[in-house]
Amino acid sequence: MVSVNSMSKSITVFSCSKCGAQYPKWTGRCLECGSWGTISEETSVAPTKLRKNQSSGSVADIVNLQNIPVNQELRWKTKYAEFNRVVGDGLAPGSCLLLGGDPGIGKSTLALQIAASIEDSLYFAGEESTEQIASRWQRLKIKPVSLSNESNVANIIATINKHRPKLAIIDSIQTTYCSEVDGEPGNINQLKACTAQLMTAAKETKTAIIIIGHVTKDGQMAGPKTIEHLVDAVLYFEGDKHQQYRILRAMKNRFGQTGEIGVWEMSNGGLVEVLNPAAIFIGSDQLSSGSVITAAVEGSRIFLVEIQALVNKTSFGYPRRLGSGFSNQRLEVILAVLAKKMKLSLANYDLYVNVTGGFVLKEPAADLAVATAIVSAYYDRVLPDRAVVFGEIGLDGQVRVVLKTKERLQTAIKLGYQNIIMPTLKIKLKEQKIKFRELNSINDLAQLFK
Ligand code: TYD
Ligand code: MG
Repeated sequence: MVSVNSMSKSITVFSCSKCGAQYPKWTGRCLECGSWGTISEETSVAPTKLRKNQSSGSVADIVNLQNIPVNQELRWKTKYAEFNRVVGDGLAPGSCLLLGGDPGIGKSTLALQIAASIEDSLYFAGEESTEQIASRWQRLKIKPVSLSNESNVANIIATINKHRPKLAIIDSIQTTYCSEVDGEPGNINQLKACTAQLMTAAKETKTAIIIIGHVTKDGQMAGPKTIEHLVDAVLYFEGDKHQQYRILRAMKNRFGQTGEIGVWEMSNGGLVEVLNPAAIFIGSDQLSSGSVITAAVEGSRIFLVEIQALVNKTSFGYPRRLGSGFSNQRLEVILAVLAKKMKLSLANYDLYVNVTGGFVLKEPAADLAVATAIVSAYYDRVLPDRAVVFGEIGLDGQVRVVLKTKERLQTAIKLGYQNIIMPTLKIKLKEQKIKFRELNSINDLAQLFK
């Protein structure tokens, strides 16, 4: 695939400076990340073929795992429960985390708050001046933080080596550089080299290192594959810059549960944890036709989320199906089941489904709520007050039991929801003042609106 020069044993590849993808031939546009003009030629040494039984290496040391002391319990906890849970019950000594997110989303603010809540931490600010960070620090009203403007990775590591802080923040990896590597800070080779060195330093010094990385406009961390696999954990700070809620999500975590999330609110005085986020995604208490509340699982928590459906006669020949916060493909499947099993054909109707608050529903447990919202919109009938709907819909039209049913029920009931519409359970539930409507199949949906 790649051309090899047999004399010099060098190999020529073309690689993208943005995402690190490699190609045998030059192309104008990277097929991996879609950027134009980022592919350039690179030469690397080809692996030489060894003859059988030939060995050029030295024998590696072997240890028995039994003899290695492990201190699993040791975690450095910040004062933020939301952060501790997402990283895996506090920061593991020697772990290296990548904190990614859009510019302006609040990464530096979060990092500064975390740094202040760990007694012994060091903040390397390569992006902003000391004065800028100091003014942010003042605004946040948090404990003092030690700061350095160093952005040379060798100097950063020497400083960590000397001071041995519990936590070091690198803000950001795109401004950190390694003088032995060619190119501007932020290019793929620089990112790789700096991240790899910081990772090694974390392991050697037992300092936990949080590396901040900006996400490019297309939603990808610059050089995503190459940096993400180097570190122990990848956290994303997500949200709409124009809304106050932010979600910290663990995309990968060697020390905790992947997919775990923590909810924050950006206030005038910095980021505030939202400790009881169950109902923050709900628009209003008074629902109209087409609106349904579901109990959704994200990470290890339950959120109550509003789903809205709009059904409209198609004005052009081809009906539109548009899901926002819900997969279009899944929407098509639900429509097919509604048509076949409930004889509810929307062939001449446009359908829009929207999940409020920017929440994205990925689990099949949202099926029944989406179907209910569609039926409610179609008949223009409102669900009973304070109702929560959840359940998976099979292709046979059966409503299936979903994971974490107990937790979903608990959250809904705690927040005052009195009508629970869900799959039929093997055990009969009884709860004062709560009305359980158990559905066997999607056919039973029409009953809800009678
Ligand atoms: P910042 O942490 O600089 O974002 P990032 O490091 O991800 O680029 O946060 C920038 C935004 O946060 C900025 O628009 C101002 C806002 N902000 C607040 O609303 N309240 C605050 O207390 C702080 C410090 C920032
Ligand atoms: Mg920043």
